[in-house]
Amino acid sequence: MTTLDPVLPIALSDEHVMLRDAVRDFARREIVPSAAQFDESGDVPLDTIRKMGEMGLMGIETPEEYGGAGMDTIAYVLAMIEIAKADASHSTVMSVNNSLVNYVLYKFGTEAQRQKYLVAVASGEKVGAYSLTEPMSGSDAATMRSRAVLNGAGTHYTINGRKSWVTSGPVAEVIVLFTMTEPAEGHRGISAFLIDTDRPGFARGKKEPKLGIRASATSELVFDNYECPVENLIGEPGMGFKIAMTALDAGRIGIASQAIGIAEAAYEASLDYARQREAFGQKIGQFQLIQQKIADMKTRLEASRLLTFNAALAKMRHPRYTTEASMAKLFASEAAMFITHQAIQIHGGMGYSKELPLERYFRDAKITEIYEGTSEIQRLVIARNELGLR
Ligand code: CAA
Repeated sequence: MTTLDPVLPIALSDEHVMLRDAVRDFARREIVPSAAQFDESGDVPLDTIRKMGEMGLMGIETPEEYGGAGMDTIAYVLAMIEIAKADASHSTVMSVNNSLVNYVLYKFGTEAQRQKYLVAVASGEKVGAYSLTEPMSGSDAATMRSRAVLNGAGTHYTINGRKSWVTSGPVAEVIVLFTMTEPAEGHRGISAFLIDTDRPGFARGKKEPKLGIRASATSELVFDNYECPVENLIGEPGMGFKIAMTALDAGRIGIASQAIGIAEAAYEASLDYARQREAFGQKIGQFQLIQQKIADMKTRLEASRLLTFNAALAKMRHPRYTTEASMAKLFASEAAMFITHQAIQIHGGMGYSKELPLERYFRDAKITEIYEGTSEIQRLVIARNELGLR
């Protein structure tokens, strides 16, 4: 496989380069050989996930005192690209722990919550999950039907309802849950809670059979009179929607990085194939129709990278980077679909075969246009912000 070390819009520090090279080496050694097998079985690769935790990859931006690696968003993007290039499923688990769970706990959690939950997730000891979506509430995230009601003594919330499409739902031990505490208040009535999965009233629902990222398990979560102590409320009552949106801004940079990793793997395989495969007496890379594909794939890949590093820099420099994160996710995910599609076309029948990973890259790329906000939602977010409509 060709190794690309593209020109980036920023100078990487020695620490960044060391991290990227170490993750690249780990991913090739520990993840690439078994990625197809895990895709086939749909089992969650908990052993390699644990090793990623030992390397600090489950809490890259979390300070070391809370179990993380204490690095920056650039480091997160670099590591996500390398893991996703080896296997998108591993990077899905990594992205939820990092951008959604750790981020919420570090930014909004109490010191006791950080000690009890953040340390475990950021160090990779426990897998985390972020539960916003419900069967009747996806893109319109504020319309949820699940409820949390505070008891008279003010000690517990009783939670009832059903959440869906929860990444790592079947294996997570720490769950950040968004549910309605004041239905009359609309989005201002949503609150965020930390869920201990060993308390009564919590059950994991059906595991979703999926097109791609098959080794990252997704399921429903069911709450039936689950009693959540008030100390597990994150932030103030009613802050949940803002917490959820803030976390998704961070998460969308992770998904953009994931899309780049998948696209880079498909692109590099296509370059190699175009250089080697012969048809009509010459290498297929000599044909202009193949050259056009290579040119378009490379250009979209590098544009994705620029937008994603731009979003990472915006996150490091500004309190609000919603537009930059949405632009990066929108462009990189659509580029990943284009690039993996072209990659199969360049490989012809071999691209369609499970003997090569091209068809897996194609299936895995699709989710990046859907989760953490569909492409339609990203366009809506970008346009509303540009037009000053919120
Ligand atoms: N940061 C901070 N605050 C924000 C914000 C942001 N990025 N976006 C919105 N808000 C605030 C607004 O300022 C507003 O605040 P006020 O209460 O002060 O007015 C409030 O939130 C409501 O904002 P909107 O009126 O814009 O809300 P809306 O109901 O119109 O919805 C939306 C906006 C952008 C469509 C939002 O619902 C959205 O992002 N939907 C997509 C949800 C999504 O990404 N789901 C994926 C779930 S996770 C997943 O994929 C699975 C997994 O396991 C990883």
